[in-house]
Amino acid sequence: MKTYLVTGGAGFIGSNFIIYMLNKYSDVKIINIDSLTYAGNLENLKSIENNKNHVFIQADICDKEAIAKIFADNDIDYVVNFAAESHVDRSIKNPEIFVKTNVLGTVTLLDAAKKAWTISDDKYKEGVKYLQVSTDEVYGSLGSEGFFREDTPLDPHSPYSASKSSADMFVKAYGDTYKFPINITRCSNNYGPFQFPEKLIPLIINNALNKKDLPIYGDGMQIRDWLYVEDHCKAIDMVVRDGRLGEVYNVGGHNERTNITIVKTIIEYIKDNVDSEVSENLIKYVEDRKGHDRRYGIAPDKIKADLGWYPETTFEVGIKKTIKWYLENMDWMKNVTSGEYQNYYEKMYSNK
Ligand code: NAD
Ligand code: TYD
Repeated sequence: MKTYLVTGGAGFIGSNFIIYMLNKYSDVKIINIDSLTYAGNLENLKSIENNKNHVFIQADICDKEAIAKIFADNDIDYVVNFAAESHVDRSIKNPEIFVKTNVLGTVTLLDAAKKAWTISDDKYKEGVKYLQVSTDEVYGSLGSEGFFREDTPLDPHSPYSASKSSADMFVKAYGDTYKFPINITRCSNNYGPFQFPEKLIPLIINNALNKKDLPIYGDGMQIRDWLYVEDHCKAIDMVVRDGRLGEVYNVGGHNERTNITIVKTIIEYIKDNVDSEVSENLIKYVEDRKGHDRRYGIAPDKIKADLGWYPETTFEVGIKKTIKWYLENMDWMKNVTSGEYQNYYEKMYSNK
């Protein structure tokens, strides 16, 4: 029985990962710590609430004592760190919390894991590993050609990607300095169930269903490389189990689309299947994001060659599954868009 300490497990990818793992394995225990920010929602974990192999603890990854106690009380084999402030627009408005959670939080976790796992100088408990869930955004922005590889220099532009890059550097430093057993995964944009509707795909689905404006930043020709969230979960599972220590693995499925294409795809589906009054007339071009990265594109060759990972869900299938999920979970959407988020949303778009 392996014990995973999963952080940020009430958020989008973290909750999908926990559900994926508990459905796949009966011999893993997951300790899920999450501070439940606006982006964390225990409703995401409803389908596994009675599973005895899942334990939820509300805690902040920056809280040294709380994290040390969790390591003292549990025999942890793996740390998978999802917890983060994850939205670029928020980072532009308020960078400080990104430094706190994404950088200081990561160092706090690394340090607690190192203390708990040390047997003697630079020697650790057998088989343990710390995996940092990072992003392709640390590599910056591409021109029309080429892809991000693991040795592409880091060149972050937003406060979000700067904080994720800093965290990656600390994880690497722990590997280099203390021979600490680490991996870093850098994945492209995810989509799927439980994604908070401040991100492009769920925001457009929600607004289209409510016949609200569909905001497109700038010319809408920015490119993102979209991956269905379950394929990301599969990659993380493989890297934790079999990733070579110290290595970085890029994760992506060569599925690049412009933002405007994504928005039109969602409109078309909703128009044909849900509400014939939804149309491209809802599209509203708004002021561009500051420092907006033009193109992301991942070369996933290393994770394919080393671990045999490949994406199972095509975009055509994944986007339909995702829209259907949001349609069947309108209460979830209502719950997470009430209160704090609604105020934030009004502020964000009232001046655009
Ligand atoms: P999310 O914003 O949906 O979830 C983040 C979770 O972390 C929330 O549950 C939140 O409550 C929790 N959290 C925030 N601050 C915390 C703190 N100080 N202590 C404990 N918990 C805290 O994010 P996501 O989209 O699920 O992303 C998860 C991870 O994957 C992040 O590290 C992100 O950088 C990375 N990532 C995301 C994408 C993507 O497309 N969403 C792509 C690649 C990598
Ligand atoms: P987002 O989902 O915020 O992810 P990221 O910035 O981490 O890639 O945005 C995806 C793309 O969609 C990005 O180029 C910004 C753009 N975008 C819009 O055009 N309109 C929106 O309302 C949002 C939220 C994003």
